[in-house]
Amino acid sequence: MSSDTIEVRFHPAGVTAKAAAGINLSEAAHLAEVTISTLCGGKGMCGKCQVLVRSGAVSEVTAAEKKLLTEAQLSSGVRLACQTRALGDVEVEVTEQQQVVVRKDLSEAMFREFELSPRVKRLELSLAPPALEDQRSDLLRLWEGADLQHCDCRALLSVLQKLPAVLRDGQFQVVVTMMDDLLVEVETLAEAKAALGAAVDIGTTTIVAYLMNLTTGELEATSSTLNPQTVHGADIISRIEYGRDEPGGLATLQAEVVGAINSLISSALADIGASIEQLYEITVVGNTAMHHLLLGLDPQYIAQAPYIPVASQPLTLYASDLGINTHAGGQVFALPIVAGFVGADSVGVMTAADICKRGPTLALDIGTNGEVMVWSGERLLCASTAAGPAFEGAKISQGMYAAPGAISKVDLADGDLHIGTIDDEPARGICGSALFDITAMLLVTGALGVSGRLAESDAGLPASIAARMSGEGNGRKVLLADAEQAHNGQSVYLTQRDIREIQLAKGAVRAGVEILLEEAGISVDDLEGVLLAGAFGNHIRPESAVRMGILPEVPVEKIKGVGNAAGVGGVMALCSEQERALACELAAVAEHIELASSANFQNKFMEAMLFA
Ligand code: FES
Repeated sequence: MSSDTIEVRFHPAGVTAKAAAGINLSEAAHLAEVTISTLCGGKGMCGKCQVLVRSGAVSEVTAAEKKLLTEAQLSSGVRLACQTRALGDVEVEVTEQQQVVVRKDLSEAMFREFELSPRVKRLELSLAPPALEDQRSDLLRLWEGADLQHCDCRALLSVLQKLPAVLRDGQFQVVVTMMDDLLVEVETLAEAKAALGAAVDIGTTTIVAYLMNLTTGELEATSSTLNPQTVHGADIISRIEYGRDEPGGLATLQAEVVGAINSLISSALADIGASIEQLYEITVVGNTAMHHLLLGLDPQYIAQAPYIPVASQPLTLYASDLGINTHAGGQVFALPIVAGFVGADSVGVMTAADICKRGPTLALDIGTNGEVMVWSGERLLCASTAAGPAFEGAKISQGMYAAPGAISKVDLADGDLHIGTIDDEPARGICGSALFDITAMLLVTGALGVSGRLAESDAGLPASIAARMSGEGNGRKVLLADAEQAHNGQSVYLTQRDIREIQLAKGAVRAGVEILLEEAGISVDDLEGVLLAGAFGNHIRPESAVRMGILPEVPVEKIKGVGNAAGVGGVMALCSEQERALACELAAVAEHIELASSANFQNKFMEAMLFA
């Protein structure tokens, strides 16, 4: 080891990164494959990358750290990983709150009935053994036995090479696996293993893989992880900028997502004791930037007018070309996208809902961005709103991902706020679903005004709410969890600045809803249903969403959480050729409305910022 090489050891994972002295701790964590939340992409703005330096020489405290950390934290060794450089061997403690619970469990998602007809076809064949009077080749025998005369004869060479042995070992009782007209596997009937596929939902924040049995249509396993690209920033634009500005940036981003998919798949396969050779196809949904970064396509032109993606059509690719581990003949089907910022995830939502078979419907996918879809009964319109990642916890001073201890809901009872946390653990921060509740509750009690300002005086407020408020002007804040209710005695607050961020995000989504409804020529009263999709779509209380104004005044019984509908769309496209065709059709008929160029957008946005 060169004398300039140092070791940064991370606890509790017990892994070590070896690097040149001077490496910053978030880069070292990345090298050691330790996940640290880096919501602002290492710009020293979010304060989410806190770690505890146990020992070793590190760089001086920066101005950003002085701003974002208390003196007590700094003196106990807490530092911001993105701001701190290791000057020698260092021991670092990563707090457990970095662990992410991905609420993209399909059990919470809405499925409709669909026909199981995967592209991966399995045929059980009982073939006549060869004889002097039947000297057909092994492949021709199999091809005719499978009644495939109408298809071009295409087979993987590896299958041809083992074909004679498999036929004879199985006494000509075999199972063949086809993808379209390509023979990809042959197994003896006795040894044939289940054919599997995976639907992968690549979110800006989290990636989830659903491992499906393609014969039964059953979900076999789910695995999820934080998108490793978050180290370059929580939002799409930071990723695009990283790919554009950093040497090798695009390749790094692609390698990160491919690596994450490979480990998700291998852990899902391990869960059910299956092998990679059983995995024949992967479908992929994700926003346009995630789609491009997986494929190694340069996404920079989707971030600048006129916002042009490299490819929008459905794409079928060899998994090996992308570096994704599958069966040797495994393929990847990337669902189509609609436009620069309306991606395959929205197509997944529209497919899962079979939106055009419904009455007039509004669908919202609230994740790191907010996508809005409106089906008027005649036209299908979509738009992406620049909601930003506030609802994922970024930009909120004590915001966090959905992890144990995150305040996930807030009730109002007996004139006071009552919080609920994930796993009932002591409160550590606030996650997205609670932001809707808190805002609604503060509005109801009068603690928050229409303009988005927290009440400056206690007059007219319930006493318990007044007791929670402190500070002045932009420093005004509401106590959600006091030291006793909170982890490590660190009280959790929602600040005036946080409310501004919620206002911006809510305003962007609501303006998008208004513009699409107007363009579609329907009113709120015409809507037969409102679907809330997204990781926490099911966790948003309809009444809170209406009260805080992200949704227009719709009767709450019309509002339905549909869970991770984008992921469901990916699963359906994997398990059914008809649903795959539907996805392609919906992407083709969907009209993209560019909100930024709508003459009305600024006015609508300003109006929608109000909590009227
Ligand atoms: Fe370090 Fe945001 S402050 S990543």
